[in-house]
Parts: sequence; C-alpha cells; structure tokens
Amino acid sequence: MRAGGSWKWSTVGDSHGRGLIGAFVAEMDYPVADAVADAVRTSADGSRFGYLPDGWVADMAAATSAFWGDRFGWAPDPSCVRPVPDVLTAFTATVRHFTRPGSAVVLPTPAYMPFLTVPAMLDRPLVQVPMARAGGRLALDLDAIDRAFADGAGLLVLTNPHNPTGRVFDADELAAVAEVVERHGARVFADEIHAPLTFSGARHRPYATISAASAGHAVTATSASKAWNTPGLKCGQVILSNAADAEHWTANGYLAEHGTATPGVLASTAAYRDARGWLDDVLAYLDGNRALLAAADLPGIEVTVPDGTYLAWLDARGLGLDEPPSAFFTREAGVVMTDGAACGEAGRGGMRLNIAMARPVLAEALDRIRTALRA
Ligand SMILES: Cc1ncc(COP(=O)(O)O)c(C=O)c1O
Repeated sequence: MRAGGSWKWSTVGDSHGRGLIGAFVAEMDYPVADAVADAVRTSADGSRFGYLPDGWVADMAAATSAFWGDRFGWAPDPSCVRPVPDVLTAFTATVRHFTRPGSAVVLPTPAYMPFLTVPAMLDRPLVQVPMARAGGRLALDLDAIDRAFADGAGLLVLTNPHNPTGRVFDADELAAVAEVVERHGARVFADEIHAPLTFSGARHRPYATISAASAGHAVTATSASKAWNTPGLKCGQVILSNAADAEHWTANGYLAEHGTATPGVLASTAAYRDARGWLDDVLAYLDGNRALLAAADLPGIEVTVPDGTYLAWLDARGLGLDEPPSAFFTREAGVVMTDGAACGEAGRGGMRLNIAMARPVLAEALDRIRTALRA
C-alpha cells in the first residue's frame, strides 16, 4: 500500500518500530473495478483528454439516473444531473448561488471536516449543531436547527449516509428536517456521496424524494468517487430536483462544472453502468469488516458500527486521555485515524476509523488499538 503512493498510506513515522496503518482519509485500499480502469485506459488510448462534450455528459447523467433509480427508487431527469469535479465544488456553488451572502450555514456535528472551514471562505458564518443521542444513536437536533434558521441561517448541510458517524437517516427524520427547513424558506445541501455504500439492513432515501417541499429546497450532490474509489478522477454529480433550480443552475453553474475531468466522467459512467457487481462485492467485503469491528473488544471506547459509509466513529472520551485520542493511537498503536475535534467541537474526544482495508490489516489495526489500551 505504501509503494502504491496513496495519501492514506503516506504518513511518515512509526510506532514502537512498526509501520503506521493509514485509517484516516476516506479512500479504500481496494483496486478499482475493471470497467473503471478500462474507461481510463480507453481515455488514454483514444486521447480523450479534451474538454467535455455534451454527449459524454448526457451518458453520465443517464447512467447516474439509472443507478439511482435502481438502487434508491428515484431516477431523476437526466437533464437535471450535472457534472462537477467533486462534491466540495457542488457545495461551494450551492452556497454561492442558492444562499444569501452573509447568511449562516447550519452544520450538524461531528461533520466531514471541510464543511467546518469552507463556509467562512465563502463569507458565510457557520453554526455548528451538535448531534444529540436519541435511542442509543446519534440524531439530528431539530430544535437547534430550527433556532439557527430563526436566527437567519440559509442552508443546512445534510450528509446522508453521515460522515463521520455512519448513520443512515430514516424517512421520518428526513421528513421532520424538510418541515423545519420549508417553514423557514431555507435550503438543504443534500450530500449523498456515500449513498451507494449503504449496507443491507438500512435503506438510503434520497432527501429530495421525501416530499414536494424537500424537492423544492434541496440541491443534491453525489459522486461515484467514494463507492468506486476514484476521488482523484475529479467527477461528481449535482442533481437538481425542481425546474426553478435547474434553470438557476443553467445560468450560474458554468464555473462549477468547468473543472470536471473528462476521463472522470467516462469512468463514472462506467462505474454506475458497468461496475455494479464490483460495488456489491465491495459492500459484502466491507460488511465482513463491520462484523470484525462489531466484535472487537476495545474497553473504554464506544464504537459506532456504520449503517452506511466505511467510516466508524470511535468515542474515546471514556479513556480520559489528556491529549487528542488520534495522537495517542498514532503514537501507541501506529493506527492513523482522523481526530474527532477536526469534525467539530462535538467530535472532540472521538476518532474516525476507516475500515475499508484488507481484513487482516483491519484485524491488526484493531489488535494494536486493543494492546495500546492495555498498556
Ligand atoms: C460526506 C462527504 N462529502 C464530501 C466529500 C468530498 O468529496 P469530493 O472529493 O467529491 O469533494 C467527502 C469525502 O470523503 C465526504 O465524505
């Protein structure tokens, strides 16, 4: 993995003479699907490195729509599926073009790290809303979200499946969100990048399908990049779910679309259309890793096994460490995780563990964590 050159495996250092295990950034340690690799090879062989033609955008939009229709019961009109280089660009464009300058962005925390810093770069204050524990699971704090909108916030970031906790929100929770947002005339950035990584037992419900209201105020973003492990190919999708937004995007989305990589579009089309079996194999494998995590005995750490995503939340507050837990476990276990504090104030004392490894490597990582706990 180190020789392969990925970011995940490039942290310099060691722990008690052992190499570090990369378990932070959201990439998988698995080779890409043949159909995806073929699409990139065909791009090189055919010199398909020019600007993006409409036909390839249309193919990708059709492939995205068909995949979403088959997997999630919503096949959006392909003309409303637009290319972007990545979900972060979709977020930036949504904030710029669908919210008022100066209006706050509401972010349930812990959250995907860049959502904490990017709003300020776009002249939007951030309101962190810590997720609450309800019925043994982390849930959205609707009252706090309501208050933030009453104070003038313009946009809620709704990541589902949720990074870093792995929660998949159910229809009732999403309907309650839609009601609050609609009452305030606000918007939702529905980040559904992890949707294809929903495990059996949970069901991904696209936020835009919850009600007419949610379709009217959502801008949905997704990508093949998490589920097919291609973030470096720079291609994601924005899905518009009402005519006014589609028109607004046509008038304002050019800059956001411009950075989309042509080979990334071809690879994404191949992923959605021709690499579904590969995805199912990966899901089955990840499910085995989830079982390994669920069975791990890590005294003092509360483990949240994900319902979606390959990211597990480890609450280490019970250990009473006097340093960030990720620093402790990098040094003592040689397992490099994302520190919870990087996910917002509510994440302090926690860690995000990426379980998308070869199973023996995950077993070793868990073993090292357990050993560090005993020391
Ligand atoms: C929830 C979530 N949103 C967005 C991103 C970033 O995606 P992109 O590389 O397409 O900007 C990630 C990456 O891990 C993520 O987990």
